[in-house]
Amino acid sequence: MSNWQKTAWRNKPRVQMPDYTDAAALADVEAQLRRYPPLVFAGEARRLRSELAAASRGEAFLLQGGDCAESFAEFSADTIRDTFKVMLQMAMVLTYGAKVPVVKVGRMAGQFAKPRSAPTEVKSDVELPSYRGDIINGFDFTPEARIPDPQRMLQAYTQAAASLNLVRAFSTGGYADVHQVHAWTLGFTESEKAAKYRDLADRISDTLDFMKAAGVNQETAHTLQAVDFYTSHEALLLEYEEALCREDSTTGLPIAGSGHMIWIGDRTRQPDGAHVEFCRGVQNPIGLKCGPTTTEEDLKVLMSKLNPENEAGRLTLIARFGAGSVGDHLPRLIKTVKQEGANVLWSCDPMHGNTIKSSSGYKTRPFDSVLREVREFFGIHAAEGTIPGGVHFEMTGKDVTECTGGVRAVTDEDLSARYHTACDPRLNASQALELAFLVSEELSNRRADARQAAAS
Ligand code: PEP
Ligand code: CO
Repeated sequence: MSNWQKTAWRNKPRVQMPDYTDAAALADVEAQLRRYPPLVFAGEARRLRSELAAASRGEAFLLQGGDCAESFAEFSADTIRDTFKVMLQMAMVLTYGAKVPVVKVGRMAGQFAKPRSAPTEVKSDVELPSYRGDIINGFDFTPEARIPDPQRMLQAYTQAAASLNLVRAFSTGGYADVHQVHAWTLGFTESEKAAKYRDLADRISDTLDFMKAAGVNQETAHTLQAVDFYTSHEALLLEYEEALCREDSTTGLPIAGSGHMIWIGDRTRQPDGAHVEFCRGVQNPIGLKCGPTTTEEDLKVLMSKLNPENEAGRLTLIARFGAGSVGDHLPRLIKTVKQEGANVLWSCDPMHGNTIKSSSGYKTRPFDSVLREVREFFGIHAAEGTIPGGVHFEMTGKDVTECTGGVRAVTDEDLSARYHTACDPRLNASQALELAFLVSEELSNRRADARQAAAS
């Protein structure tokens, strides 16, 4: 990509980005960030890319999940640990069903900036600019809080660095050791899925005992004691992304230093817009959200801009159509991908097409709609003979009440009890685990179908 410049996005139409009023303060922050170390390294992003390539071939499965928006106020070691634990549990459940490695990617350590459906928000006749995520402005409904403040980028960088440091320690420090499979439970003892998880954990423990007795070699034992955990976020705030863009010392190519994988949102995927311009030039794996308004023509242009060499693992298409609508859109986009002979990884985000306003006034997502969209996604891939290679969730390890339904049914009236999200409603730990079991069943059905097809 020799003609690409990390500043070229500045000459393209931009949407969903703040208008900073103090140009000197912004320039000062950008200069500081340019001197800071990158948060992630090119070799790690390359490794993730090859793991995503495996997922696109059905030889691995992508689990991407975490907060809708990370917040400065909710930041704590416990929050990170709990999300990490649930991701490990979900990954264990998925590995068991899919019998392939699960690639774990957090919406974490950089997921701070939010696109919004309206530029302003009205509360009891007062109209103020919308909250756009802690990296941009404040959540409080006051004129001062809603002014975009570039200093917030420095706090976001610091929080991302601290989060990543903790996650790296968890990944290699024995915490993620599969022998700890029982310790990852989060105390949701009464749910049916927690019992199912304990059964699964028992079976895994037995297998490990057997392997030990049978003298499995040290190398394999090491693989079981550590885990690869990657970070990702929407590359929305391009001043921040540009300032953390670095040159990969091995290849000389540009790399986003802000996270391993970055994605382009459904509202910022204009083929000639600023976000596509920035993302096309960095070497990281790129996600592209595809909602109902994605046209075949746009997808064609986006695939050729974002993955001109047609490399596997470079581009993940994240389908987010809404339950009941997957059949209207996924087949036509799969057809486009087939016609172009494009290498993509298909992932399913069953969250963003299923947001509704509850009778109690809270923004929520019915768990049944989330499950239904996942089933529709798998059903269509089975019919098309293509590979459903991953899932993308908004979830937390905390016992929040933000999405309705689930085994321990959260009702509209319950939502106010523990509604903590800074933006969209997240699955709580037991809903996340329940969803993992569903996906796991879909994956093992797929394996059974493939076996049958091979035998006949
Ligand atoms: C998100 O992932 O938080 C998001 C805003 O998604 P989308 O761009 O798909 O609406
Ligand atoms: Co969201």
